[in-house]
Amino acid sequence: MEKLYIFDTTLRDGEQVPGCQLNTIEKIEVARALELLGVDVIEAGFPVSSPGDFDAVEQICKNISEPVICGLTRAVKGDIEVAADALKFAKRARIHNGIGTSPYHIKLKLKSNEDEIIERAVAAVKLSRNLCEEVEFYAEDAGRTDNVYLARVVEAVIKAGARVINIPDTTGYCLPEEYGAKIRYLMENVKGIDKAILATHCHNDLGMATANSLAGVMNGARQVEVTINGIGERAGNTALEEVVMAVKTRKDFPVETGIKTERIIETSRLISSLMNMPVQPNKAIVGRNAFAHSSGIHQDGVLKNRENYEIIDPVSVGVDASSIVLTARSGRAALKHHLDRLGMSAQGKDLDELYEKFLIMADQKKQISDQDVLALTSRGVRPDQPVKLKLIQVLAGKSTVPMATVHLEIMGEEKAATAEGNGPIDACVNAVKKLVPEKFILDEFLIQAITRGSDDIGKVHVRIRAKDRIWYGYGADTDIITASVMALADSISKML
Ligand code: KIV
Ligand code: ZN
Repeated sequence: MEKLYIFDTTLRDGEQVPGCQLNTIEKIEVARALELLGVDVIEAGFPVSSPGDFDAVEQICKNISEPVICGLTRAVKGDIEVAADALKFAKRARIHNGIGTSPYHIKLKLKSNEDEIIERAVAAVKLSRNLCEEVEFYAEDAGRTDNVYLARVVEAVIKAGARVINIPDTTGYCLPEEYGAKIRYLMENVKGIDKAILATHCHNDLGMATANSLAGVMNGARQVEVTINGIGERAGNTALEEVVMAVKTRKDFPVETGIKTERIIETSRLISSLMNMPVQPNKAIVGRNAFAHSSGIHQDGVLKNRENYEIIDPVSVGVDASSIVLTARSGRAALKHHLDRLGMSAQGKDLDELYEKFLIMADQKKQISDQDVLALTSRGVRPDQPVKLKLIQVLAGKSTVPMATVHLEIMGEEKAATAEGNGPIDACVNAVKKLVPEKFILDEFLIQAITRGSDDIGKVHVRIRAKDRIWYGYGADTDIITASVMALADSISKML
C-alpha cells in the first residue's frame, strides 16, 4: 500500500467562507484537533492576507509539531516573503504557491499569455525554494486548463523545485472520468513527474468533489486536499471524512491514509460548532442520520446483523452505535430493542399492547425519545425520585426583571425559594440552587428543537457538576421552563 497524504485546508479554504471566520485561539484548537486526527499537512492560512492570518499561521507553527504547516501565497514576491516569515517557527514548513492556468484566468483575470504565466510560476517557485525547504505549486483552475499546456506548466515548476503539484478543480467543473484522465495524462507526459507528488484539490459545485478526488487517486495522485465536513468556498471542498472512509471501506484503492478515523466525529462536531456551520443531517459519515435507521424493514435487518444495512461500522468513525430511530414506520423489533435497552423487556401480549400505544403516539410525534418510551410504560418520573418538582411560577417578559418561585419536594419535604435571573430559566435555576444543600454547577443545558409545531413537547438535557463528578438529567414537557426544572431535578436526584 502506498501512502495517501491528507492535506487539510479547513483553516484556509474552509475559513474563507463568510461567517466561518475564527480567531487565533480557535484556529489553534482546530489545528490541534487536526493533528490528533492524523492529517499530514495543515494549510494554516494565507499569511499576507491580513495581520490576523499571519499571527494565526505563526502561532500554529509554534503549537503544532507533527503535521507539515503550509501557508498559501500567490506567485507574488511579497506574498512569498511574508509566508516564509510566518512559517519560520514550523518544524516542517511548506509554501503553497501558484497562479491561474486556464484560458479564463490567463486572459480575463491575469491579462497575460501562456509563456508569461510559466515564467511567473517558475520565478515564484524558485524564490519559494530559496526561503523554504518544501514548495507546493497550484495551477489554479487546472480543471478547465488544457492538458497539454498544463503538462508544460507542471514540468517547468518541478524543474524549478516544486515537489508537490496541486491540480485544483477550482470551479468544480470536472466530471470524475475527465479529472482522473487529467491526472493520468500528467503522470504519463510530464518529464520529472517521479520527483513530485500530484495533489487533488476539488470543489463541489456539481457535487463531484469526492468522486473527482478519488478518480485522481485511482490515476496516480498521492495527496488529497480536503476540509472537515467539506466546508469551503461556494458548495465547498472535498470532505476529508468521505475520501478517508471511501479508501478505508473499499479495497479498490492501492493507498492508505494515516487518519485516526475514530476521531472523525469529534473533529467534525468541533469544526461545525466553532465555525457555526451545521452539518446537514444526511451528510455522509458525519451527518446526524448517517447511522440512523428508521424504516421497519431496515431496523429489523440491522438488529439481526448491522452489516445488512451498514457498510461502515459507526464505532470506526467515533459514533457509539447505529441508532434505531423510533418513528411511525418502526416495527415491533425496534420497539423491543429500545425497551430492552432501557431495562424493560416486554414480549408476547405485553409487547403487542405497548406497540399499539406506541403507534398512536408515533402518529402524533415525529420521533419517539427514551422519555416517550418510558411514558408508554408509565415509568416517566420514577416514584422514588428524591427530588420532585411541585410548582413553578415565573415572571418574565420585556422590561421585567425575570423572577421565579420554585417548590421542590426534596426527600419528602416540600421547600420553596424565589430568585432572579437573566431570563426565566436562569431565575428557576437560581431558585433551585437555593433549595439544594449541595453546591453544583450547571455546565451543559440543551433544549431540543421543537420539530412539529408550537404545541410539541420541549425536551431538555442538562449536565451538572459537583465534587469533580457529573450527572445528567432529562425533562420533557410542553412548557420548556417546566421541562428545564424537571431535567435539573432529575440530575440533582441522581447526585443526591
Ligand atoms: O481552489 C483553488 O484553486 C484553491 C487554490 C488557491 C489552491 O483553493
Ligand atoms: Zn480551493
